[in-house]
Amino acid sequence: MTTTRGTAIVNLDIEGPTISRHLYGHFAEHLGNCIYGGFYVGEDSPIPNEGGIRLDVVQALRALNIPNLRWPGGCFADEYHWKDGIGPKESRPRMVNTHWGNVEENNHFGTHEFLALCELLGTEPYISGNVGSGTVQEMSEWVEYLTRDGDSPMVRLRRANGREEPWRVRFWGIGNETWGCGGNMRAEYYADLARQYATYCRDHGDNKLYRIASGASDNDFAWTERLMQQIGCFGCEATPKNFFQALSLHYYTMAGSWDAKGSATQFDTDDYYRTLAAARRIDRLIAGHSTVMDMYDPARTVGLVLDEWGTWWDVEPGTNPGFLFQQNTLRDALVAGVHFDIFHKHAERLFMANIAQTVNVLQAMILTDGEQLVLTPTYHVFEMNKDHQDATSLPVHLRLAAGGSHTLPDGKELETLSVSASTKDGTLLVSLSNLDAGEAAEVTLDLRGGTVGTATARLLAADRIQTFNSPEAPDAVAPRPYDEGLRTDAGRPGAVTVTLPPHSFVTVRAPLAG
Ligand code: AHR
Repeated sequence: MTTTRGTAIVNLDIEGPTISRHLYGHFAEHLGNCIYGGFYVGEDSPIPNEGGIRLDVVQALRALNIPNLRWPGGCFADEYHWKDGIGPKESRPRMVNTHWGNVEENNHFGTHEFLALCELLGTEPYISGNVGSGTVQEMSEWVEYLTRDGDSPMVRLRRANGREEPWRVRFWGIGNETWGCGGNMRAEYYADLARQYATYCRDHGDNKLYRIASGASDNDFAWTERLMQQIGCFGCEATPKNFFQALSLHYYTMAGSWDAKGSATQFDTDDYYRTLAAARRIDRLIAGHSTVMDMYDPARTVGLVLDEWGTWWDVEPGTNPGFLFQQNTLRDALVAGVHFDIFHKHAERLFMANIAQTVNVLQAMILTDGEQLVLTPTYHVFEMNKDHQDATSLPVHLRLAAGGSHTLPDGKELETLSVSASTKDGTLLVSLSNLDAGEAAEVTLDLRGGTVGTATARLLAADRIQTFNSPEAPDAVAPRPYDEGLRTDAGRPGAVTVTLPPHSFVTVRAPLAG
């Protein structure tokens, strides 16, 4: 095997679209220990909290500048009745969470608690409404309760529950996976329902909703096409024709199949490469759904919202199969790095993406166990990449001199180098992933159309692709300064060469000069 060598040509003076901050969005469902135990421990907990919300989790997430948080599901959203989650906690009705472990939900974390969490995080709420088992009136009243000022039945109810001012809630999902857990509907049927629900989700005052229709999974381009045909007149000036501002898409990465997804930590090199190949598929999926959308909305007025993505492994042995608790290794971090490069490339159509899920479920940022808290390798990629939020994307052209691909068992080639770049506030940020499990990569950043000052770098790596963080070894995978990995060559002004160890993620930062 040859060490990968190549050049990444970055044109500093050719500006691409702005990378929406919402591509770094999050997702918190009433599932396993995401809400209860993860975000929320209750006011009587010995774990430091504000109104029951864990302050260590808030502090860790604030460092990521998370732009939005989706709630209450997922599948749970379509059996959630919001009025059960307001008022005095002891009198809130209980229910069974039929999707996730058949456990009893006491509704102690409801609308007010979620909005308080968003305020503590400094993030925008994204609420997913119930189409599967709810009513149009219920959803319409929720919007009124949250966002209306003045005087009205729902405003009086909100005030009786202690909140005087309306909240600002922009992002509104009309159902979730309506082709599956959200009602097992056909696209034609959902399209009509979506129009009906969206009609009664009103803009109150200056709170303008960004309505997100329940879109496709994976490569179901037919679902996207039917919705684009039927749910609206995109780019029309006036309501009621402009029902939707976005369509969603869900895609999960796994090494195996839905029946045997593979272990989060016990995997071999073939599983590793299969996973990265599966992660890279998101490029073709976004391109495919965007192409369908382009046919109906060539001006790109409607956004694509990938509001569930990430790795999905078999649950950790001994844990509740309905709680979707999984460990998180360096492999997961590289999956995240590759996704972000692809998101940046599609910044023109892709408006939002939400990792599934933020705490204790699937590809989490944070794993908790009682009062213990561990930051995962994935957390660090979000932190290292956070300055791409709202930055101007820059096109990157890769020219390989050696290596740069791995042949999979099925004969297909996996590109093992992934790069993206942006500028913001006079600083260039380049993210690079070397997916090769065994060989280093040497990439020369050929910076054209401008000059930069001294570059600095950070590295996320570990000896093994299976390395994960735990309470005993919380920093087994953690970023460190990596300026020794950078080399400038006097003979090539405007070029910086980065050495990437095997299976590593690196960010390079440099001030733009002049
Ligand atoms: O994120 C876990 C589940 O995956 C969500 O509830 C659902 O929307 C998807 O199938």
